[in-house]
Amino acid sequence: MKKCNNTDFNISNVNENVTLYGWASKVRNLGGIIFIDLRDRSGIIQLTINPNSSCYNEAEKIKSEYVLKVTGKIKERTSKNKNIKTGDIEVIVDSIEILNEAETPVFELDKDDALEDTRLKYRYLDLRRESIKNNLLTRHNITMVARNFLSDNGFIEVETPILSKSTPEGARDYLVPSRVNKGSFYALPQSPQIYKQLLMIGGIEKYFQIAKCFRDEDLRKDRQPEFTQIDMEMSFVNEEDVMDLTERLFQKIFKEVKGIDIKLPILRMPYDEAINKYGSDKPDLRFGMEIIDVHDLFVITDFKVFSDTLKNNDDISCIKVDGKSKYFSRKKIDELTEFVKEFGAKGLPYVKYENNEFVGGISKFLSEDEKRYLIEDLNIKNDDILFFASDKKDIVKTSLGALRCKLAKELDLIKKGEYKFLWVTDFPSFEWSNEENRFVACHHPFTAPKDDDIDKLLTDKANCYSKAYDIVCNGYEVGGGSIRIHKKDIQQKMFEALELTKEDIEEKFGFFVNAFKYGTPPHGGLAIGLERLTMLLCETDNIKDVIAFPKTSSASCLMSEAPNIVDKGQLEELKISIIK
Ligand code: AMO
Repeated sequence: MKKCNNTDFNISNVNENVTLYGWASKVRNLGGIIFIDLRDRSGIIQLTINPNSSCYNEAEKIKSEYVLKVTGKIKERTSKNKNIKTGDIEVIVDSIEILNEAETPVFELDKDDALEDTRLKYRYLDLRRESIKNNLLTRHNITMVARNFLSDNGFIEVETPILSKSTPEGARDYLVPSRVNKGSFYALPQSPQIYKQLLMIGGIEKYFQIAKCFRDEDLRKDRQPEFTQIDMEMSFVNEEDVMDLTERLFQKIFKEVKGIDIKLPILRMPYDEAINKYGSDKPDLRFGMEIIDVHDLFVITDFKVFSDTLKNNDDISCIKVDGKSKYFSRKKIDELTEFVKEFGAKGLPYVKYENNEFVGGISKFLSEDEKRYLIEDLNIKNDDILFFASDKKDIVKTSLGALRCKLAKELDLIKKGEYKFLWVTDFPSFEWSNEENRFVACHHPFTAPKDDDIDKLLTDKANCYSKAYDIVCNGYEVGGGSIRIHKKDIQQKMFEALELTKEDIEEKFGFFVNAFKYGTPPHGGLAIGLERLTMLLCETDNIKDVIAFPKTSSASCLMSEAPNIVDKGQLEELKISIIK
């Protein structure tokens, strides 16, 4: 049964006899003539069954989504359909075999309006829809380009274990009980991080893998519990080498998959600058509204909120929305005030500049000097509006950063089809965790500190910076990596800095630290989030759209109903009891 694609045929094939297979996408009986849109993976072709055809009776039985084999002759259509690839032709059918019947689908496959839960429950039907199918095709094309590119550049694909030991990527592990070793558990890999470093110690030099990763963490629109990385690692490299290779890979993928040219080198920005200007380590550069530090303009302000902030040595910053002051009604500003409160801000002071004067909001508190400075320093024009935040630095930056993104969407400032790439570099080695009341690794504990900061690992964690880099596009962190620690004593110091006890280190990473003794080459790498990259190229902001069988936000599969309760016998065999 050699099947050809529906869309292989066009006007040049007129009068040819063909055999086609597919699903009846649409069936119309127009006064005797039956038209069927036959759909296969490639697309749709129109079948025409005339009343005098010997297969007419069979055709009358066909309903939506029946599976068919037809033979017939290609003819030119009288009324052409410019919307489909085969719109100039039709197949005049002379035999039909119904290969399988189908129940009426639970939602209309040629529309986009079905509820997401229904689509996920019947995902196999959802996959028949053009948009999801095309997304999977894009995903396939990305992995093919990546595989070929990396192989052409001397990388070899190596698979690392799925039943493995915990790697600290910051999320919780998914655990798998061992039947043979009762009471022991494997951890599903959060990433192949430790294994790929061991591959470098093993002399593989250039590794890649299209790697499945598993993280038990709070899910968002761009996060799934199970996802895929284009993961790589290289020996004898520095940051420049890894970033250069990654850029060229992105350039190739965008060109080959979507015909888009990315200009290299990609812009770079240190982490601190990204936070100060955009309130985020993954800034969306498709629009302006940078955060402006206005702390100095208010040194002798009458506005109590600001003067209190200055007394506490905190931060005052603002964003300026050009020419849109009229958009911001009282109601709108109240809504935005509630929005910034979610990020810890206590309020949202604002001021408008209309008819050459400051009006509304905090205008009555501004001195003539402050007004003049604002106009000059911020280049204020009529109908601009300023939104301020004054608080602890992280609250100021994150609330204004989030407001900036929200306003860009609301005001439609983001051009469709545009891609703005950025490398965020010079990450801090550590970040403070309120939850754990200690410094935790900003990236992961294998990331090398900057050469000048090695001594700060134990003495000045807040100011210790690392050789980590993230590649960011349109506000998404698409990939991240670092140069690794390759000296045993520094790795040991890093674990100590993370307050791991000797026993912890031995228990969790003993095998890894031990390997460092045997000639570890300098190495580094990066992992690209395949779904995030596919989302960008498919222009969707929902990660589920680019995964064949995704999970819901509560990490379950509506179709298979995983995770499920297992039977007692299985638990007994594993010597596991459930605590109620
Ligand atoms: P990191 O944790 O930054 O680094 O992950 C790399 C990239 O993987 C993607 N990603 C995700 N995608 C979907 N759902 C998730 N839950 C999810 N979590 C992460 C992101 C991210 O940039 N081992 C290191 C890489 C290295 O150092 O080489 C790592 O995993 O796009």
